[in-house]
Amino acid sequence: SANMLIDSFGRFHNYLRISLTERCNLRCQYCMPADGIELTPSPELLTHDEIIRLADLFVSEGVDKIRLTGGEPTIRKDIEEICLHLSNLKGLKTLAMTTNGIVLAKKLPKLKECGLNAINISLDTLVPAKFEFMTRRKGHGRAIESINAAIELGYNPVKVNCVVMRGINDDEIGDFVELTREKPINVRFIEFMPFHGNVWNIKKLVPYAEMLDRVQQRFKDVKRLQDHTTDTAKNFKIDGHCGTVSFITSMTEHFCSGCNRLRLLADGNFKVCLFGPSEVSLRDPLRAGHDDLVLKEIIGAAVKRKKAAHAGMFDIAKTANRPMIHIGG
Ligand code: GTP
Ligand code: 5AD
Ligand code: SF4
Repeated sequence: SANMLIDSFGRFHNYLRISLTERCNLRCQYCMPADGIELTPSPELLTHDEIIRLADLFVSEGVDKIRLTGGEPTIRKDIEEICLHLSNLKGLKTLAMTTNGIVLAKKLPKLKECGLNAINISLDTLVPAKFEFMTRRKGHGRAIESINAAIELGYNPVKVNCVVMRGINDDEIGDFVELTREKPINVRFIEFMPFHGNVWNIKKLVPYAEMLDRVQQRFKDVKRLQDHTTDTAKNFKIDGHCGTVSFITSMTEHFCSGCNRLRLLADGNFKVCLFGPSEVSLRDPLRAGHDDLVLKEIIGAAVKRKKAAHAGMFDIAKTANRPMIHIGG
């Protein structure tokens, strides 16, 4: 039978993002509504065994990269066991995590032993007071410690995700680039994207072209690097710097034609596009006792319905979608 991971445009999806929890220890403005969100009752969330069973199914069909997201994945009690089980799946090459770094430094040595081999850490500002404003919580120092801990443990590059919002942190682009001089990090400036409850507004979006221009104003010899067809990021290097600088241009120059990503949410819903509102439950057929064949058919049908590209930023902003905290990026 046809591979369930190939869509009607020929894109092969070898990258599964699994959201492990809807909870987070921060309250970032761009991710979560000010008044919080309703949490899915825990009996409706995937259990450890269900996550492993579904991941196993995807890996057996060709997924070779899994990224753990949230909410905040590190706050899940069984995070070490999940990493251990996933990293042992035959055929998986990359087990990655996207985290806010608040409780990561302490846990990372163990997570590394359990097979976590790539790490992306969110950091939107180098100014502690601004961190508290953007995340509505304290923890700036701990996030920075986690970046340093990841470097010391040999993760290379450590990717640092910086969501740029006009009037809030766009004055810090140069300072973030400066960090790449001595540190083996990949600083990634991300265009602000609309999700339920994050009060997206075109005025708060700093377009890729403008961000790049600001970098080029301050740094000479900004070289474009070759990127991979499935990259979310356009990659650059400042001559003489140890690390690299990238831009994730989901809004002004989407990269959907190379998309290789699928998403499994904490409640067991399966999502084929970050911005596509359609979802299908894998939890329900799993709990109804169906075998792999039935699950594969459901997954394959959803993948075949995937659109060529997202609808454009203004349409996305109007379409019903989940809050980002449920999707995990
Ligand atoms: P790598 O696997 O290291 O390349 O990371 P990634 O960019 O796939 O994932 P990460 O969790 O670090 O996300 C960084 C930014 O890219 C976030 O703002 C995500 O929402 C965004 N992003 C990740 N995957 C997709 C995608 O499939 N489409 C779009 N439009 N944005 C994405
Ligand atoms: N726009 C762009 N990026 C976002 N992220 C969360 N919300 C948004 C948004 N509205 C980023 C986080 C994290 C990654 C998973 O997605 O900063 O690094
Ligand atoms: Fe893939 Fe959808 Fe992201 Fe485009 S918007 S890259 S199709 S997940």
